[in-house]
Amino acid sequence: MDNIQTAQLNLAPGVIDFGAGQPSPSLLPLALLREAAANRLDQDDASYLAYGIEQGDGFFRQVLADFLSRHIQLPVDYRSLFLTGGASQGLDLVCTLFSRPGDTIFVEEPSYFLALRIFADHGLNIVSLPMDDQGLNIEALELKLSQHRPAFLYTIPTFHNPSSVTLTADRRDRLVQLSQQHDFIIVADEAYISHL
Ligand SMILES: Cc1ncc(COP(=O)(O)O)c(C=O)c1O
Repeated sequence: MDNIQTAQLNLAPGVIDFGAGQPSPSLLPLALLREAAANRLDQDDASYLAYGIEQGDGFFRQVLADFLSRHIQLPVDYRSLFLTGGASQGLDLVCTLFSRPGDTIFVEEPSYFLALRIFADHGLNIVSLPMDDQGLNIEALELKLSQHRPAFLYTIPTFHNPSSVTLTADRRDRLVQLSQQHDFIIVADEAYISHL
C-alpha cells in the first residue's frame, strides 16, 4: 500500500527542521483534543456532524472570543469572529470580499512572501511602504495616501515576519486615524500575537 501522507512534513524521528515554521508534533495536544472530541460527541447531538454554520462552530468562537479578550485586553464578541483554515485562507477571503482585480493595496517592505503571492493571484496592484525599527513608516504612508486610494493595507504589526519588528503604540494610533480619514481597511495579520 502507498505510504499515504497526512501532514505537510514527514520528519524522521529525532529530526528538527528549522526550515519550516511549524510546531514539533511532540508539542501538539493530542490527548487534550481526544478528550475534547469525546466530550462533544458524547452530547448525543448528531447535528454536530451536519453542515457547519458558515462562520464556524459557535461554541468554539465563544471560547476563542474569551481567549482573545484576555490576551488583547479588549472585549471581543464571538459574533464578529469568522473561522478559516489558517491566515492564508483568511487573506484569500479578505481579497475576495474587499478588493477587485486591479485595485491598489499597501503592504510593508519587506512582507510575508506567501501573502504577497495571494495578493498577486488576486490581480492586485501592490504598493510597498518602508519600515524601520518601530515598524511601518507613517510619513511614507501619508505620502502614498496622497497618490493612491488603497482597498486595504496589509500589515504584520506584532513580531513582523521577516523583520521581527513590533509596531509602536503611537504609530498604531496614527495608522488607525489615517485609515479613518482616508477610508481604507487595515488587514492586521496577527500570526504571532499569542506570543506576547
Ligand atoms: C505573517 C504570517 N502570516 C501568516 C502565516 C501563515 O499562516 P497560516 O499557516 O495560518 O496560513 C505566517 C507563517 O509563517 C506568517 O508569518
